[in-house]
Amino acid sequence: MSEIASHSNHNQQLAVFLDRDGTLFDVPNQFEINPKTIEALKQLQNKFQLFILSNECAYTIAGVPPLQAEEINTTIDQSLSEAGIQIKEWFVYSGEKKKITEYIELCKHKYELNLENSFLINDHPNEEDNARELGITQLYLLTSRGGKHLAKLNPETLIFHKIQNVASWIFNHPSHREALDAKIHEAANVIKSGGVAAFPTETVYGLGADVFQPDAVAKIFMIKGRPQNNPLIAHIADYDQLAILVDDVPDKARILMDAFWPGPLTIVFPKKHSVPDIVTANIPTVAVRMPAQPIARKLIRLCNSPLAAPSANRFTCTSPTSAGHVIEQLGDKCPVVIDGGACRVGLESTVVSFTGEKPVLLRPGGITIEEMEAIIGPVDILSPKKETETQAESPGMMPNHYAPATKLLAFKEIPEEYAEYEDIGVLLFKPSKLHFKGVVEILSQTGDTKEAAANFFAAIQRLDKMELREIVSEYAPNEKLGIAINNRLGKAANGRIES
Ligand code: TXA
Ligand code: MG
Repeated sequence: MSEIASHSNHNQQLAVFLDRDGTLFDVPNQFEINPKTIEALKQLQNKFQLFILSNECAYTIAGVPPLQAEEINTTIDQSLSEAGIQIKEWFVYSGEKKKITEYIELCKHKYELNLENSFLINDHPNEEDNARELGITQLYLLTSRGGKHLAKLNPETLIFHKIQNVASWIFNHPSHREALDAKIHEAANVIKSGGVAAFPTETVYGLGADVFQPDAVAKIFMIKGRPQNNPLIAHIADYDQLAILVDDVPDKARILMDAFWPGPLTIVFPKKHSVPDIVTANIPTVAVRMPAQPIARKLIRLCNSPLAAPSANRFTCTSPTSAGHVIEQLGDKCPVVIDGGACRVGLESTVVSFTGEKPVLLRPGGITIEEMEAIIGPVDILSPKKETETQAESPGMMPNHYAPATKLLAFKEIPEEYAEYEDIGVLLFKPSKLHFKGVVEILSQTGDTKEAAANFFAAIQRLDKMELREIVSEYAPNEKLGIAINNRLGKAANGRIES
């Protein structure tokens, strides 16, 4: 592939290396360039030289002969060029490890690149360690295979739903490491002085205030428009902070904590008298969670106090799994939002109560009931009847939560007639045999519930913005994280659940 001359007025020193399949294109071997991708690339090329990395393995898998593969890249390059995007160089390689970073190192010398402020955007964790050694920052995409390999990814690596989200993150964090760190400190200072700030966790974004400043906690309810009879979760960074909130920890709760903390599990305990009533909505129990997300942990440590934090969305609306979602829903009321990219789990934590004789599941979430029962034995499930009767027991279980503005229908199997409508959104758990004419979002190319969970709320929110007549969706299989997905989907459909 021939090299394309770059504009001389561009800063030659910074680079963005973009993977082709799964980055430039959401789905491998489907080479239609999304207009949003063009916008993102335009934004990036104001400051960075753009390089494309293309893995020949993808051709082998797709059975495309090498010559045709070369042609495909030339065509892509031409269409990018016509759209005003100049690619400095293409690098076509075969699947082995370390290839990408060797190439980046080569470019570093060839173009005198400053890798410290350059980026590698892709959807595979293979070369993460090499990239770190080189000093380049990897930003990871959930598109294509990205969701499948999340478990192998370093916890510190920021992930994003779409390339446009990456571009705007880079744009908003000019000297990225310092900018992110400064934002975490700013949020901590605001919270310490009685304010609120939104921050990423591995489940969804939270709207946090100091548990021990009741006036600050009151602001959370006001900003969200949430009734004060809904208790909040106290987020802790370590076990010392648990001791400030709770006197006794039952054995089975301890076993769960050992297995799943830090992580997407919230445990309800009898509370210490000193925990302010506003946090717990005047009930004698407190819900506690130790998040795994490194930014959340750093923030809680800096605040030096547990943080009361519900999801950072307006009451009953769709949960935020990116900073953009928070800004859209609460930006005018909550000026400090730490942008830590997309949330890896993408669904709220599992809430399990240890206030009675047996553990009770109050809300399905990021840790599955099977995972819990495997180590502590039977867990009771709050019955649907009880849900509506005892609102305070678990208000997150109310039937009208998580709703988009667009009417949403949920089906076990989407009826064929919907394939014909162009003005609807279609939310699929996995690729379908039907060819839908509407706007389609596929939660997991491989039908994996974890990957689907990570994409779930973001996909609903993308569809919700498109002024569609309605959104039709299909339930995930009722197993693993599919149970939590189906719980949210049912509530988002808000009484309009079909068959
Ligand atoms: O993943 C999560 O849990 C996210 C992130 C930010 O950590 N937080 C979250 O908070 O989803 P929120 O407020 O949207 O939901 C908290 C859930 C509600 O269902 C609430 O009823 C339940 O936890 N909860 C809180 N305190 C409780 C208590 N003392 N007893 C029973 N349920 C409680
Ligand atoms: Mg919520």
